[in-house]
Amino acid sequence: MEILEGIKKIECLTPLPDSANKMQELFNYPTVDLHDMAEVISIDPAITLSLLNYANNFFKSFEKIDSIDKACTFLGAENIQKALINSFPNAHIRSYSPYEGFIWEHAIASAYLSRIIAQEIDEEMGEIAYTAGLIHDFGEMILAQYFPEHFSKIVKKVMKNKISFLEAEKSLFNTTHIEIGRKVAEYWGLPLSLIDVIAFHHNPSESCYNSKLVSIVVFADVVCNRLGIGFGINSCHNSIKHDILKITEIDDRKKENIVFSLQEILNENESLRADWMDIN
Ligand SMILES: [Fe+2]
Ligand SMILES: [Fe+2]
Repeated sequence: MEILEGIKKIECLTPLPDSANKMQELFNYPTVDLHDMAEVISIDPAITLSLLNYANNFFKSFEKIDSIDKACTFLGAENIQKALINSFPNAHIRSYSPYEGFIWEHAIASAYLSRIIAQEIDEEMGEIAYTAGLIHDFGEMILAQYFPEHFSKIVKKVMKNKISFLEAEKSLFNTTHIEIGRKVAEYWGLPLSLIDVIAFHHNPSESCYNSKLVSIVVFADVVCNRLGIGFGINSCHNSIKHDILKITEIDDRKKENIVFSLQEILNENESLRADWMDIN
């Protein structure tokens, strides 16, 4: 199937079975704690994206919902259940590729690190930065879930020809996870700030809406790739360029704080890796 034609029909992403189970358990309680829900949502990019899709269409005429916190507060437990119910049945019957585990791991590590970086720069950006870090590779998630054969061809080409993920995508299918993610995010009516991150996290100088947010996520993405969290092959930018440091205003002291906090992410990543092995 032609990828750009196929993505027009995508209405949700299927969460990992473990996250779907946890959410369903919460739905069974007579009274649900929104904080518990937000915790489960925040470690699954698929649930987060489905929720943002629902929330932004639910509140069409109001402000855009650009973080997990905002989506939970605005929707409430009952609407969260309505938003997610369609994406759950498949969670237990479809097969998962190991690639999805890597994407999931990379998404969560990028989210944690994006929040830490944002907190060093502008406390108020912490939650949107977490959400943006979690979903920045939306296009990869779509490819891995809806086009698994295309995805493995891309990975094989990257390995064989030692080229970037973007180059392999373009040469094989004449599109990239950037274009795929941006188009679906636009169909779904996601906020411009998040579309900006999805569209420009490999080319931050072209970001036109929220270059600070894009730069924060790029910083986190580069660090995660260099640490091998995720594929380690999906980045075409391996260094943090001067303009990223300038836009984010990260000086030596802030850099030290960020590096210090990284240790926590790595510890967290080990347990996340173990969780993933458990459910597969
Ligand atoms: Fe990417
Ligand atoms: Fe990434």
